[in-house]
Amino acid sequence: MAPRLEIVHGDITVEEVDVIVNAANSSLLGGGGVDGAIHRAAGPALLATCRELGGCLTGEAVITDGFDLPARWIVHTVGPVWHGGERGEADLLASCYRESLRLADTVDARSVAFPAISTGVYGYPPAPAARVAVEAVTTTPTSVAAVRFVCFDEAAIAAYESAVER
Ligand code: APR
Repeated sequence: MAPRLEIVHGDITVEEVDVIVNAANSSLLGGGGVDGAIHRAAGPALLATCRELGGCLTGEAVITDGFDLPARWIVHTVGPVWHGGERGEADLLASCYRESLRLADTVDARSVAFPAISTGVYGYPPAPAARVAVEAVTTTPTSVAAVRFVCFDEAAIAAYESAVER
């Protein structure tokens, strides 16, 4: 049974779900964008935990406690940097969504909130990224019941709305 999809406009750090997904970088040591917001909201214990993890490859994911966030867990995944679409970016982005759901299943999560991975600093165009996200989430076997695409801006909302309608 594919998860129910919801598109919401807001800040992922206040999402009251089992798992929120962080668009991290390979060091896992924080950054700007949603990564910075999550580290600020989760508190310094998150960075201390991430230091022990030894990084994460693009397309892969790791899971940590949610610390001071309302969410119980954080899945950190590293999206591809956009180089025009000819370097396997779509497959790597799809892997971020699949691996995040796989880790959510390991903690029996029922609800997962995703940001628009790679569409900020990493430059992935929002519309193709949203199509990859919706396709990956609706074709990956998972016991997660609800997936929330948390959009920080209007461009992301429009991208997900047209991706879900397809
Ligand atoms: N809640 C939800 N979405 C957010 C938030 C937030 N608080 N802040 C930013 N976003 C959105 C951005 O608007 C964008 O749509 O998250 C999406 C992903 O953008 P980035 O955070 O820039 O992530 P990404 O493009 O994957 O680049 C990752 O940026 O922050 C650094 O350390 C991170 O090096 C890594 C790179």
